[in-house]
Amino acid sequence: MPFRTIIEPFRIKTVEPIRRTTRDEREVALIEAGYNLFQLKADEVLIDLLTDSGTSAMSSAQWAGMMQGDESYAGARSFYRFESAVREITNLKHVIPTHQGRAAERILFGSLLKPGDIVPNNTHFDTTRANVEYRRAKASDLPIPEGKQPQLIHPFKGDIDLAALEHLLADPPARVPLVMITVTNNSGGGQPVSMANIRAASELCRRHGVPLFLDACRFAENAWFIKLREKGYADKAPLAIAQEMFSHVDGCTMSAKKDGLANIGGFLALNDDDLAQQCKKLLILTEGFPTYGGLAGYDLEAIAVGLHEVLDEDYLRYRIRSVEYLGEILTREEVPIMQPPGGHAIYLDALSMLPHIPQSEYPAWALSLVLYLEGGIRSAEIGSIMFGLQPDGSEKPADMELVRLAFPRRVYTQSHVDYLAEVLIHVNALRERIRGVRIVEAPPVLRHFSARLAPAHGALIVD
Ligand code: F0G
Repeated sequence: MPFRTIIEPFRIKTVEPIRRTTRDEREVALIEAGYNLFQLKADEVLIDLLTDSGTSAMSSAQWAGMMQGDESYAGARSFYRFESAVREITNLKHVIPTHQGRAAERILFGSLLKPGDIVPNNTHFDTTRANVEYRRAKASDLPIPEGKQPQLIHPFKGDIDLAALEHLLADPPARVPLVMITVTNNSGGGQPVSMANIRAASELCRRHGVPLFLDACRFAENAWFIKLREKGYADKAPLAIAQEMFSHVDGCTMSAKKDGLANIGGFLALNDDDLAQQCKKLLILTEGFPTYGGLAGYDLEAIAVGLHEVLDEDYLRYRIRSVEYLGEILTREEVPIMQPPGGHAIYLDALSMLPHIPQSEYPAWALSLVLYLEGGIRSAEIGSIMFGLQPDGSEKPADMELVRLAFPRRVYTQSHVDYLAEVLIHVNALRERIRGVRIVEAPPVLRHFSARLAPAHGALIVD
């Protein structure tokens, strides 16, 4: 193609207005929300980058598929379509639908984990960690050292530390019932995992007789990065790359709210017959019969179509490019971000931007509040509010203080991204005047969803 501009590879058929608010209105909204962006009403947000989960715009083919949903309790046609879409990509034997990713995690861990066990992962996502800890097992994060340095450029910062994994498997301080790899590594900056790393982890696990599972939420974005960055994959189709990724594992948990391009849904897929049997028993207790697993037949249809669309090259090129485009502007303007930009989000590096705010005053949380106050943008803290509270109740600063700007799929256009860049450059210029926050009250687990906070020094931005 002679033209360089990568366009949104779709036309817009249905629109949803977004509401503008004034800065004064946002100031009040923040107070009412207890300085917690999860507690805002979505109508108070102009551009919502809280999550890329369940927020995709569905295609006309997905809506058409939904009209063909078969709502039979057992053996619905929609289940078989869903199962074959999952099988085509994963080639895993048992496909168990769930209402979202964390339900797949709960069912898998409920069948596999005992108190005291250890689960290694490149980095656990918050719900994954919480589900491991709920079983009184230990969630152990083993990212490569490069993955913990926000400014460092490395093609596969999501890789799991193979030496650390080998060490753990060779001399395990407790039982290791499974190893997980999260693709892309969400909590580590949306960074991809290389095929070489998945392959090597798989060999290690096999040698030690431990099953390897993918947390596959963003498998298609990971496949695209492998195509772009790993030797030998440039000419392979995303589907073939994804198939190879799954060929190295014994199972996966999946949130179809991400790379399923659906608004709800997920699955657990695995090869082990006995484990699948046990998981299905738990599934029936809380999710539903194994051919619908807490989903409507039409949801299964939307996912089946979504799993196909998400591997389209034009879609993936646009998807990864739109995140990279914002990353390029911010890098040029010296706004500190995690480098290189990840697949589904830009992560602002709050420790670099706000070195004057101690981690005990939650710099990333404070920054996310300022982005809302100044520009109506909702983002998510991935820092010490999310990860600082230890299971024993003590507080430990997180390795990184990040603010995630997660892009819903097929929802925002380039002018939205240009607006975002403007707001971020403006906030970066204010950085010396930004102050930290303190916790007023917080629950003991997953506190970021409902904690109430307040400015630690009277205001978020001082004169
Ligand atoms: N694993 C990863 C890596 C995730 O990012 C998520 C969800 C889950 C598991 C759980 O899936 O939401 O369908 O139950 N991440 C969302 C996010 C919530 O905003 O990153 P779920």
